[in-house]
Amino acid sequence: MDSGHISSDLTNVLFTKEDVANRLAELATEIDETYRDKDLLLVGVLNGAVMVMADLSRAMSIHCSMDWMAISSYGSGTQSSGVVRILKDLNTDISGRHVLVVEDIIDTGLTLSYLISNLRSREPASLEIMTMFRKPEAAENAVDVKWVGFDIPNEFVVGYGLDYAGKYRNLTSVGTLSPHVYS
Ligand code: IMP
Ligand code: MG
Repeated sequence: MDSGHISSDLTNVLFTKEDVANRLAELATEIDETYRDKDLLLVGVLNGAVMVMADLSRAMSIHCSMDWMAISSYGSGTQSSGVVRILKDLNTDISGRHVLVVEDIIDTGLTLSYLISNLRSREPASLEIMTMFRKPEAAENAVDVKWVGFDIPNEFVVGYGLDYAGKYRNLTSVGTLSPHVYS
């Protein structure tokens, strides 16, 4: 790849654009089946879930609505702070709705466990989670995830919505960053 091209900053590509699309097609079929006769609301977590939301929803064939939340997570570093704050709340009243939270990645699960207890208190008819990527540490926290794209090693990855210091979200593949980027 050309130097100066953002993908040249990756040391290791874990998933190509095609890997992601193929897996999303499988998940979309299951999600279609689960919500076939239900009024489904997809809730995306900004900014990382933008790509997953766009591609998952278009791989689905049932009707759905979409809404967005923004919560603080990492800042610009690579360590989970555990500090969670709602920066933008839903526009929709979810009480009595079937809600599927769409996430980019679950690392410690701290962000999501906060989000889920917050959403549950609004009494949706059902509340499930779909995440594109999940790291091993997530298993230590009691976050019940119904659909996982890929379980990945405990490494910091970028691309497909995932950022490092706000960048690399527009990379279509997912991989680890070369050390020169951090220095
Ligand atoms: P958690 O609270 O530790 O589960 O962190 C969740 C959030 O941290 C995700 O929604 C991402 O925004 C961010 N995050 C976790 N791991 C990564 C990664 O490997 N690359 C980019 N962002 C990550
Ligand atoms: Mg996120």
